[in-house]
Amino acid sequence: MKGIILAGGAGSRLYPLTLVASKQLQPVYDKPMVYYPLTTLIEGGIRDLCLISTPHDLPRFKQMLGDGSRFGISIEYREQPKPQGIAQAFLIAESFMGRDNIALILGDNIFYGSDVFYRKIAEFKNGAMIFGYHVNDPERYGVVEFDGEGRAISIEEKPKHPKSDYAVPGLYLYDNNAVAIAKSLKPSARGELEISDLNVAYLKRRQLHVHRLSRGFAWLDAGTSSSLHDASAYVQAIEKRAGIKIGCPEEAAFRAGFLKLTQLEELTGRMPNCEYRAYLNEVVAEAKRLEKNL
Ligand code: TTP
Repeated sequence: MKGIILAGGAGSRLYPLTLVASKQLQPVYDKPMVYYPLTTLIEGGIRDLCLISTPHDLPRFKQMLGDGSRFGISIEYREQPKPQGIAQAFLIAESFMGRDNIALILGDNIFYGSDVFYRKIAEFKNGAMIFGYHVNDPERYGVVEFDGEGRAISIEEKPKHPKSDYAVPGLYLYDNNAVAIAKSLKPSARGELEISDLNVAYLKRRQLHVHRLSRGFAWLDAGTSSSLHDASAYVQAIEKRAGIKIGCPEEAAFRAGFLKLTQLEELTGRMPNCEYRAYLNEVVAEAKRLEKNL
């Protein structure tokens, strides 16, 4: 399976922060926002990635992440000239996808907890898989309704009167038919190719699987000043308490087997003196201790 990080959009709710750098380049506590979805895909075992952003911001992402070899992965880049919808990603990245299945993640979504994505990505064969997460403000999101047996029966984008409290987070798994279906979608009233319409198309074909994320799982989006602040506070609280980092792609790449210990050590050695480097040094030291004890 390949991965797409969608990191364009207008970022208008974060103005004036987004005057110079896009939303996904902004800090969430101690690292750029895009590090979090990047880490989620790496943790999911995905090595072939495509990042989509605006013509204005794409050079900054290239500067930040390069060709991905630093993380033992490959990153290609594509432009989205205008924010014409999340489902447009499949039209933009068609040549990148080839015949593969795809995991699409939004550049401002932060996930933490459990290996559910790793398992779902590993098990995924065909159709589409999305997730449901209980929230107190479902009207801000795509909302999925379930029948008595837990099967999804409807999906509505930003409904005024949500039929459930389950929002659809910004990580979606699709088979290769997503391209053809995206091509058949018509822009919505707000002029976007809606990801909810793509999901509804899979639902109508009886090929949509919805997995409800458990209570212990955290999903944050950082699209408003307030949610950006909350996300930073959350990451800081966990990192301080547990002495681990959330959203550290170098560590995730090492644990996924994409980087050898020597590569991680060398990469860490090139970083300036900072907390991030000190953390990765600890990861290296611990891995060496474990190797010795084997
Ligand atoms: P949104 O938060 O819905 O939109 P936005 O980022 O443009 O922000 P605002 O509403 O404040 O103007 O987008 C969710 C994510 O999807 C975000 O990471 C940006 C990305 N996105 C694109 O890259 N292209 C698009 O066409 C759309 C609609 C979203």
